[in-house]
Amino acid sequence: MTTTQSENAQYALSISSARKSFGTVQVLKGVDLGIEPGERIALMGPSGSGKSTLLNCISGIEKLDSGTITLHGQVISDLDGGGLEKLRRESIGYVFQSFHLLPTLTAFENIELPAQLINMPKDERREKVYHMLKSVGLSHRSDHKPDALSGGERQRVAIGRALIHSPGLVLADEPTGSLDTQSGEDVLALLEKLSVDQGVALLMVTHDRSSARICNRVISIQDGLLI
Ligand SMILES: Nc1ncnc2c1ncn2[C@@H]1O[C@H](COP(=O)(O)OP(=O)(O)OP(=O)(O)O)[C@@H](O)[C@H]1O
Ligand SMILES: [Mg+2]
Repeated sequence: MTTTQSENAQYALSISSARKSFGTVQVLKGVDLGIEPGERIALMGPSGSGKSTLLNCISGIEKLDSGTITLHGQVISDLDGGGLEKLRRESIGYVFQSFHLLPTLTAFENIELPAQLINMPKDERREKVYHMLKSVGLSHRSDHKPDALSGGERQRVAIGRALIHSPGLVLADEPTGSLDTQSGEDVLALLEKLSVDQGVALLMVTHDRSSARICNRVISIQDGLLI
């Protein structure tokens, strides 16, 4: 499937014929996907099938071998350097499976960082962080560093950080993978609420079909293709 730029403009994210190999291992073999603004999609598939690779290609951690990735009508797979960095910083939030919080920063400062990176004015930024800490239920943990937080609390900081700059798209790689049942439920409810309230599109990797209930659609990756 090839789509034109104007057809892509309706999507928060559009992927066309995406291919990615590591050495001789073909991981993505022509992936096509369109996510509408505010749409929540669960991405399932066996271990090693390429789910994290797909998220990493969207976020720019990895580069596609061929194919296009379009964010809000703008092709990002061809961009390089500063322009790309800026667009991604503004438009994408990433919740990593293993939190990836900065250990020397407090909960407040971890959430504040993406807003700082896009030069949001300090007063506006701080007010947003206070509000976000409240939304993720961590106002009382504002000054704690990650090693003084529980797994569920860290994941909520990671979600706050992914959403603080109001990106149009949030990528979440097994956001409940390392949490107990109750913390997992809390994190899912939070992701759903923030997505609904802010109209954020969500692409969430999960191994757990019940987590997919907060999503509008479930897709699977198998043998390098989405089905
Ligand atoms: N940087 C890399 N170099 C070489 N091979 C890689 C690299 N990253 C991923 N792969 C390979 O690509 C394939 C897909 O990996 P990926 O991490 O995307 O799988 P996944 O679907 O996220 O699996 P899991 O459910 O276990 O997290 C695997 O075979 C993996 O070994
Ligand atoms: Mg993975």
